[in-house]
Amino acid sequence: MSKTVLITGAALRIGRELACAFAKDGWRVIVHYRRSKAEAEALAAQLGGVAVQGNLSSAAAGETLFGKLESQHLLPECLINNASEYGRENLREVSAERMEALLAVNFTAPLSLMQAFARHCGKGHIINLLDQSIAYPDKRRGVYALAKKALWHATEAAALEWAPDIRVNGVAPGLVCSPPGVDPAKIANVLQSSPLGRRNTEGEIAQACLYLAHAPSVTGQILYVDGGMHLGINN
Ligand SMILES: NC(=O)c1ccc[n+]([C@@H]2O[C@H](COP(=O)([O-])OP(=O)(O)OC[C@H]3O[C@@H](n4cnc5c(N)ncnc54)[C@H](OP(=O)(O)O)[C@@H]3O)[C@@H](O)[C@H]2O)c1
Repeated sequence: MSKTVLITGAALRIGRELACAFAKDGWRVIVHYRRSKAEAEALAAQLGGVAVQGNLSSAAAGETLFGKLESQHLLPECLINNASEYGRENLREVSAERMEALLAVNFTAPLSLMQAFARHCGKGHIINLLDQSIAYPDKRRGVYALAKKALWHATEAAALEWAPDIRVNGVAPGLVCSPPGVDPAKIANVLQSSPLGRRNTEGEIAQACLYLAHAPSVTGQILYVDGGMHLGINN
């Protein structure tokens, strides 16, 4: 029987590509979504998988979602924490409310999913989608970067604590698809200044995740798929 992967925020963009790549590789895919119901259900139908709804905005999110999956006999062998909210606020200007929301969706909820995976599934593999900005102090989007850094440390700590039953790895993309409202000239400038001078594709992120899913000796690893951006910008 094929293995099952749960991909959070899988209806659109990078998550959708991950779902298609894992399905092509023979996995049964659980397409998690929050608001994109129609897209998630269409994708799940196309891939022969299942769509599951859930709001990942608190420390209770993991138990709620895995309780639902267990009651439907849908426990996965692999969890991919992909759902995220990009926040442009820096540390000085962020409101208390936004800070709580950004930390919840980008750190607290993914960690609660990791814990629920460990409790309900006992063994398998977890991949956390991080960001190349974990490699340096980020003065423009301080709270989002802080949450991703916390998730990076949780990735390494859990890899050590939960071995040998559960492998835990991370993939840190560079610029794949920009959030709405970002000036294209700014993006072109960042890309041009990055070491490899190229945008990273959704397919490259999916290939990195598939590699990790098939690498029994790899745990606690962060794979930067970012054209070298984490090394510094050349300007
Ligand atoms: N895009 C890039 O260039 C880039 C660069 C570096 C790192 N990354 C990382 O790669 C991953 C995927 O990036 P992306 O740009 O494709 O992600 P995205 O479009 O920003 O978000 C993916 C999905 O997350 C879900 N989501 C947001 N808030 C949620 C909540 N409170 N509860 C449940 N689901 C929620 C949404 O699902 P619904 O639509 O169903 O509501 C959304 O479609 C993220 O972890 C991101 O940080 C991306």
